[in-house]
Amino acid sequence: MRRKVSLFIATIVCSSGIAIAADTSAIWKANCASCHGKDGSGATMMGKKLNVKDYRDPRVQAIFSDAEAERAIKEGVKTNGKETMKPFGGKLSDTDIKALVAYIRSFKK
Ligand code: HEC
Repeated sequence: MRRKVSLFIATIVCSSGIAIAADTSAIWKANCASCHGKDGSGATMMGKKLNVKDYRDPRVQAIFSDAEAERAIKEGVKTNGKETMKPFGGKLSDTDIKALVAYIRSFKK
């Protein structure tokens, strides 16, 4: 019985957390997951082709600051002068971009 109660509470806590992040995870799935993977691992066809890093890795997370991540999402990423990630500044609001950075941080293991 006790176990059932705590399970119930855990469900409420988790589902409210998901409710906050639902939009952001939808944005991630629609715009980013094709390269970065649903789980941020970058283990997708495009991700492998473009050498996308594994954002679950704490060492990778340490490479960029939140501000740098925001700028990359806004202005895009170039690798050797070639655009490998297009800018999303025109498509996504600053609020969405900030939320995406937090979302990316949550991949860290
Ligand atoms: C066409 C493939 C592609 C898509 C789609 C894409 N990215 Fe990227 N992204 C890349 C590549 C390539 C890099 C550079 C390699 C790396 O850091 O993993 C990168 C790098 C990044 C970085 C790290 C920047 C830095 O300073 O090191 C962030 C943060 C990022 N992407 C977020 C996003 C978000 C958020 C979206 C969706 C709104 C997105 N990406 C969509 C390919 C993509």
